[in-house]
Amino acid sequence: MVGCPAVEIKIMSLQEFNNDQLPQHIAIIMDGNGRWAQQQGKNRLRGHEAGAKAVRNTVEAAARLGVRHLTLYAFSTENWNRPKTEVSTLMSLLVRNLRRELRRMTKNNIRLSAIGSLHKLPKKVYEELEEVIEKTKSNTGTNLTLALSYGAREEIKQAVIDIGKKVKNNIINVESIDQTIINEHLYTQHLPDVDLLIRTSGEVRISNFLLWQIAYAELYFTDVMWPEFDEHELHKAIKSYIKRERRFGKTSEQLT
Ligand code: FPP
Repeated sequence: MVGCPAVEIKIMSLQEFNNDQLPQHIAIIMDGNGRWAQQQGKNRLRGHEAGAKAVRNTVEAAARLGVRHLTLYAFSTENWNRPKTEVSTLMSLLVRNLRRELRRMTKNNIRLSAIGSLHKLPKKVYEELEEVIEKTKSNTGTNLTLALSYGAREEIKQAVIDIGKKVKNNIINVESIDQTIINEHLYTQHLPDVDLLIRTSGEVRISNFLLWQIAYAELYFTDVMWPEFDEHELHKAIKSYIKRERRFGKTSEQLT
């Protein structure tokens, strides 16, 4: 195996994780870029650049494992309130990485999607995003979703408005509104619920991310700053997930 790291990783993964045990949908709140940079005496913006590398490593590690859906919180509705230079650095970083990663995504059979108030993104980001989404749409491996200009309350508000309009126009009957109908009006209508939610950097909060979709997710918080998150850390999170008993409101006895 020496000199053949890709094969080594694959074999280790197969031994470690049984496909049935893997979370189908992993969502990550990538936090700590700024603090990581500051701890190293660097500008916060360097933290985002290092964060982009961690994105690549994590996405490819998830793809190697066969994770079906990976959703990354890349920019929240609240992040628009950051200093202008930081917002524009993040936007340029997105454009650069989308351009750069297209070939690797294709090679790794990764399909890109995006959720959020995408119309608020700068034209360049929106166009680049659209292009990569279009060019990867036939890929059948991991479905990578970037949450951009995303806020769960905004998403839910939008779903309520859309359902309300349908009720008004007699397309939906009020009595027929159920959880499936609500799901169908969220940005994530094409995704299953989140199984495992990871947050890096030691912060223990949800920050307006996928509030509806994480109803029964297992939560995993780690002190590791996002730029230092990698395949090893992903495996640790999945191992912790596999040990949990997911009861969905039932008792242990009912599960066995
Ligand atoms: C949180 O760190 C991170 C973000 C607000 C942005 C996430 C962006 C990236 C990982 C880089 C580019 C993304 C892609 C998809 C290529 P923070 O700045 O809030 O850190 P802090 O809490 O330490 O200040």
